[in-house]
Amino acid sequence: MKIFFLDQSGELGGAELCLADIAPAFQPDCLVGLLQAGPFKTLLESQAIPVTVLARDSLAVRKDSGWLAGLSSLGQLLPLIKKAAQIASGYDVIYANTPKAMIVGALASALSRCPLVYHLHDIISLEHFSGTNRKLLVGLANRFASLVIANSLASQAAFVAAGGDPNKVSVVYNGFRPDRYAPMPENLLRHELGLQDKFVVGHFSRLSPWKGQHVLIEALTHCPTNVVALLVGDALFGEADYVALLKQQVQTLNLGDRVHFLGFRDEIPALMQTCDVVTHTSTAPEPFGRVIVEAMLCQRVAIAAAAGGATELIDHGKTGWLCPPNQPQKLAELILATYQHPEQATAMATAAKAEASATFNLAHTNQQIRSLLAQVI
Ligand code: UDP
Ligand code: GLC
Repeated sequence: MKIFFLDQSGELGGAELCLADIAPAFQPDCLVGLLQAGPFKTLLESQAIPVTVLARDSLAVRKDSGWLAGLSSLGQLLPLIKKAAQIASGYDVIYANTPKAMIVGALASALSRCPLVYHLHDIISLEHFSGTNRKLLVGLANRFASLVIANSLASQAAFVAAGGDPNKVSVVYNGFRPDRYAPMPENLLRHELGLQDKFVVGHFSRLSPWKGQHVLIEALTHCPTNVVALLVGDALFGEADYVALLKQQVQTLNLGDRVHFLGFRDEIPALMQTCDVVTHTSTAPEPFGRVIVEAMLCQRVAIAAAAGGATELIDHGKTGWLCPPNQPQKLAELILATYQHPEQATAMATAAKAEASATFNLAHTNQQIRSLLAQVI
């Protein structure tokens, strides 16, 4: 089975980290085509996965843009489509992993007659996409894709609600290797960060308005002063204004010694195990939410915004907490409940680890994808 994966990003977003776990299952007969160089390319190369960059400049199509931006990037698109079609003629399937890769992949599939699969990591709603891009994506998927793999029931439902063909979609959850999240023998990070006597609330996401880091910062004002936050992640897609706003918010609320910005980090399991609780605060429905499963695998209580895929990951009150989105006061109450009831929290975290290890296993995910692809080919 020869797979030509296509992804628009050079950054390490969740869709890219998901693909970095899928591609090794198809080695050596796979190639990852990127529309941009960056740390994702380096990660793939470190795993000896063949990778090529199709474009020098990134495509100008933004998720929220309309026809105009779409048309102005047509000049950039055509050579990419041609190149992708040439490569695809040597493969059994084009596997588009992101929206822009889907646009390129659909037309490359039409030219090369190579079947197309779309791994849908997004909720195609108006909160996340312009009306034009939504129609374009769904139209191309209906016309050209043999299969759409949705990362959650929520992403599947939004695709169908936007006019997507329900017969083409199957849900496959992201998979993980539980051994990567095993307890660390000695974790000195708390000491290094001077947090020995603190109750540490973690947040692991790129800094972006809809990821809602501001909700956690606001929630801290409703918690005792020994409750502190670690914000792990950086602005991956040009959200510098939001970063400035967050820093301003911290200053205005006088929380400088309680909020730690750690930037983008690779050692997620060690950092999660430094935390007492992990929060997820997306203000728009999260398509899946890898960080929630990772917290569960690290045996930590996750408090997640109750919308989208997150509601499929956590059994509220048993394997974590679901919190109404965008409600700092409620979030603070759940942080405090975890703080004040350590025995209940330990039981919940133990159940979370068992549930996540069984349900979100990488070997199973890759098996599901392999058998779906076999049907397409
Ligand atoms: N992540 C990371 N370093 C960071 C922050 C996040 O490696 O500093 C990882 C995180 O562990 C998770 C992914 O980035 O696997 C984010 O995926 P998620 O599905 O939570 O959100 P996305 O950013 O894809 O919307
Ligand atoms: C996307 C989504 C995120 C999901 C990830 C992996 O980046 O925003 O919710 O977990 O893809 O499917």
